[in-house]
Amino acid sequence: MEIRKLARQEQPPMELLLLADPSQQLVEQYMKRGECYVAEADGAVVGVYVLLPTRPDTAEIVNVAVHELYQGQGIGKRLVNHAIQTAKAQGCKTVEIGTGNSGVGQLALYQKCGFRITGVDRDFFLRHYDEPIYENGIQVVDMVRLSQDI
Ligand code: ACO
Ligand code: ACO
Repeated sequence: MEIRKLARQEQPPMELLLLADPSQQLVEQYMKRGECYVAEADGAVVGVYVLLPTRPDTAEIVNVAVHELYQGQGIGKRLVNHAIQTAKAQGCKTVEIGTGNSGVGQLALYQKCGFRITGVDRDFFLRHYDEPIYENGIQVVDMVRLSQDI
């Protein structure tokens, strides 16, 4: 499995990006300003992340996703750690990430990668998404914010 930066002229893996974020409009917005990296295995794109500069010295991982057939094999962890190293190489001092209140597995993964919870953006998903979203049988309403100094 190899992780590489997606070239400007390449099509982003929209299906994967929409796994992590159901709003194509939001995805297209941050794809314009962020850097997209893909994980390739067996000659196909199996994972993705998008790193977005948000404030001076700070970048946010705004999207991370692994193809369903490849989940649970450590690819998500490698992508998140790769994103942290990329931000560090660019001189960032802080990396941030956020996930829905229902994201039990995501919260586990991010904490295993060194992130700590810094706050909750209440009603974020009610404000920014038209349709109700459910995950693990829980409605996604709040955004749990995490960060780490690097
Ligand atoms: N309890 C405890 N630990 C858990 C749980 C849980 N419920 N779920 C996952 N984990 C742990 C795993 O054990 C593993 O840790 P380990 O290596 O110490 O065993 C780690 O979290 C994740 O393992 P990976 O195999 O690296 O993860 P995967 O390749 O499956 O990718 C991802 C994780 C990206 C979240 C994937 O499931 C996915 O694409 N989901 C759909 C899209 C999504 O929700 N993306 C994130 C949205 S938030 C955002 O984009 C910023
Ligand atoms: N991902 C998604 N859903 C989960 C997960 C997970 N990782 N773990 C549990 N759930 C869900 C279950 O699916 C279930 O929901 P469902 O009925 O919709 O399927 C629900 O959470 C819990 O199910 P129960 O069987 O009712 O829970 P249980 O009888 O196991 O009791 C408890 C839970 C009290 C936390 C028990 O595991 C326990 O005693 N743990 C040790 C002590 C402890 O940690 N207590 C809480 C400390 S905090 C405090 O005391 C305030």
